[in-house]
Amino acid sequence: MSQHSQYVAKAQTLVSQMTLEEKARLLSGNGSWTTHQVERLGIPSIFMADGPHGLRKALGPNTADSVPATCFPTASALASSWNTELIQQVGAALAREAQANDVQLLLGPGINMKRSPLGGRNFEYFSEDPLLAGQLSAAYIQGVQGEGVGTSLKHFAVNNQEFERMVSDSILDERTMREIYLPAFEISITQAQPWSVMCAYNKVNGVYASENPFLLEDILRKEWGFEGFVVSDWGAVHDRAKGVQAGLNLEMPGSGEVNRKKIIEAVNAGELPEKRLDEVVVSLLAVVFKAVEHRRTGFRADLDQHHALARQVAGESIILLKNEDQLLPLEVGGKKKIALIGAFAKEPRFQGAGSSQVNPARLSNAHDELVALLGGSERIGYASGYDLEGVTSAQLLDEARQQAKNADVAIVFAGLPDSHESEGFDRATLDMPEGHNQLIEAVSQVQPNTVVVLMNGSAITMPWVAKVKAILEGWLTGQAGGGAIADILTGKVNPSAKLQETFPVRTEDAPSALEFPGLNQRAYYGEGVFIGYRYYDKKNLAPLFPFGFGLSYTTFAYSGLTLGAASIRDTDSLTVQFKVKNTGKVAGKEAVQLYVREDKPVVSRPEKELKAFTKVALQPGEEKTVSFTLKARDFSYFDLGRRQWTVQPGRFDILVGGSSRELPLRQSVSVEAPVAVPVLTRESLVKEFRDHPKGKEFYPRLAGIIMGGAAAGTDPKRTPQEERARKKAEMSTLVFVHDMPAYKLINFSEGKFTEQMLNDILAQVQ
Ligand code: BGC
Repeated sequence: MSQHSQYVAKAQTLVSQMTLEEKARLLSGNGSWTTHQVERLGIPSIFMADGPHGLRKALGPNTADSVPATCFPTASALASSWNTELIQQVGAALAREAQANDVQLLLGPGINMKRSPLGGRNFEYFSEDPLLAGQLSAAYIQGVQGEGVGTSLKHFAVNNQEFERMVSDSILDERTMREIYLPAFEISITQAQPWSVMCAYNKVNGVYASENPFLLEDILRKEWGFEGFVVSDWGAVHDRAKGVQAGLNLEMPGSGEVNRKKIIEAVNAGELPEKRLDEVVVSLLAVVFKAVEHRRTGFRADLDQHHALARQVAGESIILLKNEDQLLPLEVGGKKKIALIGAFAKEPRFQGAGSSQVNPARLSNAHDELVALLGGSERIGYASGYDLEGVTSAQLLDEARQQAKNADVAIVFAGLPDSHESEGFDRATLDMPEGHNQLIEAVSQVQPNTVVVLMNGSAITMPWVAKVKAILEGWLTGQAGGGAIADILTGKVNPSAKLQETFPVRTEDAPSALEFPGLNQRAYYGEGVFIGYRYYDKKNLAPLFPFGFGLSYTTFAYSGLTLGAASIRDTDSLTVQFKVKNTGKVAGKEAVQLYVREDKPVVSRPEKELKAFTKVALQPGEEKTVSFTLKARDFSYFDLGRRQWTVQPGRFDILVGGSSRELPLRQSVSVEAPVAVPVLTRESLVKEFRDHPKGKEFYPRLAGIIMGGAAAGTDPKRTPQEERARKKAEMSTLVFVHDMPAYKLINFSEGKFTEQMLNDILAQVQ
């Protein structure tokens, strides 16, 4: 018996001894963070706390009132590391702090897709790409759960905006759902089996996620084999009995007697089978037993070690976006004067707001860390440049110019103030506050050596991009971000992070710009699968900085792409190998990326899609071979007609490189697959019978019902003009017939072609 099934067996035994009231009581929380216990049967309770990038064990209703904990970089920063091992270590550290605080379940990771760069919680989410988000999330879950603490993968599903978040209906087709919005969950569940999944607030195609059997039962449990329990997002429950029926185990926070009574009434009225109730209680209790068994009483976490890890991770999360004339790194022992400009240098923005807000155990700032690293404050000047809301003034700009002029290099700290980015609302624009842009303009006018360090959780526009020599995307890099920025600026750490989301030139260039965020409780996902780089590629639109992009203080060269075969069957796997070499003078790490492109897709597909990545560490001059294995799913699209993943036979390009827009290696493989045969129904069009291997036999008969003798052939008695008119009429009739559903032929034949005849044909073409 697997370990999990032992907990299930124990839970089943106890559930069989419970009253209806006890069972219903367990399915709603005891207050905000704990489950109920059943003393009579020795059933304990567990404590849940946010996550995702630091423990937020609440001490009261105020979000800021929580235990001190290590604040790691938020998800958009973490994901920019493209480093699964490091993220696994972060997960393990988070779990150790959870253990130290008697928390059994961490409410994270958040892995929703960044449908729009304006999404208010994008700072808390990994990526615009499902594979990247999924693999990083699986590593995070393995890290946390490896230390005996559960995770709650959130927010399931299609939760991509904050506007009207409690009620908004995400309306999208199944292909978009399967190709974009579900795979990160699928990868996390099939690879890492989180102990719980948190269902989202929103509806999906008209049905609340908290009572959605398609999501909670068919996909999550039956298709992906999820074993844990589903918890509602805090306040996501509507019709509790429907939720139980669909597979929502736990309502959070607790609703006292309100929903308990509703469950009992539904069972008594015969609307909710007690057997179903039992199943839902069993999967919750199995995790409760597992969690309690892994509890480490009296455990203490090493917060110094975690601060050091936070600094290391932050260093791998900060992206070098521009570095003209190799202005960076700054010389440590040199004499050059440096002006640090912008209040964020001393009072950093290092995390987002809302349920993920951590009470940091320590806090570093770039100003003090740079003074420490560069050896003394005499080289370093400072001007605040703006207030904490991002507002500047003539006087603040003058002070900044003065400092910049007196220095050899100016470093401007800018980004988004707290009020611009938070859980609970979406951003109105991708622009930074006017005061920040004005400050960068003012400094760059007087100081040619200007570096911009950004602190923001999601994409921004940069109207000044051409006017500064260097740009660091510093994200919201947590409590040790100040030290990490200093490490990167001085070259102590070589930048190796890359964008996990595209930065557009203008707000209106963004995918879903015309539809986001919907209105009147409806969000139409009209752009379909085209979000992130898939959109910019398809529209042939140049982004400000593309997905996958990031510079280093060294350079890398790619070579020797070889495929295991020139042609494969869709049941085979394909090995891909290539070499990557550090061609510069310092050690560095490169996030290598592999994309697949279908040459002639039958449906509108992205130009290319990320299918594999890894991070490679290389000493100067060192070369390593990287290998990936691709499988059928990497070539597939989700066929809406057949509701199945499908490989269309044909040629696929394998593209490899260091950014979605710079892929120097390319090879093709031909994939053989059975041609997808659609199922013919009475609604199928006549032309679909013509194109169907079995249906084509019946095509002349079906078409003939209307065409009759229309195709009468050439009649020498007709004038050329009459002949042309006849052919034109014949062509129009044929177009008309081809686009006609088969069942309509019954009416057109005035009953000569009968329902029975159609059914006979349909029976023969299956
Ligand atoms: C958020 C969740 C969070 C929960 C508990 C909700 O408002 O959407 O992400 O885990 O609150 O704080």
